[in-house]
Amino acid sequence: MTFLFNSDARRGAVFADAFAKELPDIPFTIDAGTVDPDTVRYLITWTLPENLTRYRNLKILFSIGAGVDQFHFDAVPANVKIVRMIEEGIVRMMQEYVTLAVLALHRNLPGYLAQQRAGEWADIAQPQAGSRRVGVLGLGQLGQAVLDRLKPFGFPLAGWSRSPRRIEGVTCHHGEPGLNEMLAASDILICLLPLTEETRGFLDAGLLAKLPSGAALVHTGRGPQLNHEALVAALDSGHLSAAMIDVTDPEPLPAGHPVWSHQKVILTPHVASVTQPATAARAVIDNIRRHRAGLDPIGLVDRSRGY
Ligand code: NAP
Ligand code: GLV
Repeated sequence: MTFLFNSDARRGAVFADAFAKELPDIPFTIDAGTVDPDTVRYLITWTLPENLTRYRNLKILFSIGAGVDQFHFDAVPANVKIVRMIEEGIVRMMQEYVTLAVLALHRNLPGYLAQQRAGEWADIAQPQAGSRRVGVLGLGQLGQAVLDRLKPFGFPLAGWSRSPRRIEGVTCHHGEPGLNEMLAASDILICLLPLTEETRGFLDAGLLAKLPSGAALVHTGRGPQLNHEALVAALDSGHLSAAMIDVTDPEPLPAGHPVWSHQKVILTPHVASVTQPATAARAVIDNIRRHRAGLDPIGLVDRSRGY
């Protein structure tokens, strides 16, 4: 029974140490070339290896990241459980990034950077946090964690998910009517939805038009959820005041794409949150223990929902 680590060697070394200490009876390898495929029970990877079906005894396919949209589910045998990454490092980094983005947008940082480049010294009107409404699309592992981190600032907080949720201090919405209600009351909208057939192209002109005039967008979900032309049009018309974007489609955007140089956009290269090997190894080891005890792993993907 082997655990095959199919990602970068630096993180692999951390996983190898943790497995040697915590699960010494499970051989661990980062060498897909020499492992006997019949022994592989567990595989962690970002993208699917071409020859996945050669691992005939595979039980769990772990994503090295929180997202699983990079997997073609049809290529994964039905008896193999697909598990997304739930670990404290990825959560903490997303809390940091979204807090940075919300504060930057709340305190007009894109406007002040533009003024600095133009050599201007002038105040921009500053609403107080209590009147800057923040809405989060997606109330899973990351959406809930960022809302929790934003609480002390005093922003009125709201969130939207597929199924009804109750979160203290957060106005929770779900479904289509709930979405419209939240959009109309989001001065800063944060996207933390997984990429599925339902969320592809979700942040389009129609959705952006439902935001209050002067609203701002933080996009940390997946690039194909955002219509980049609609974003640029909403920024140029003044309907949106600014955006902080971590994911694009494609990544990177082609040279000369207007998002690269837009004065109202802060762009980062898909770095909002990255799996941290020590905490991720612990999460994966716990899941293997759960699996051995006959329990479902934490982060088990529901293939019919796509996340
Ligand atoms: P998660 O725990 O699976 O949560 C997903 C949330 O989205 C859930 O609340 C779910 O609703 C909601 N949702 C999904 N489809 C929906 C729909 N059609 N309508 C309404 N709500 C819907 O995921 P997570 O771990 O928080 O991660 C979210 C995403 O963040 C990942 O999939 C990935 O794309 C992105 N991410 C980005 C970075 C980065 O560096 N930029 C890093 C990590 C992750 P229910 O609660 O009702 O199920
Ligand atoms: C990064 O984008 C992830 O899904 O972990």
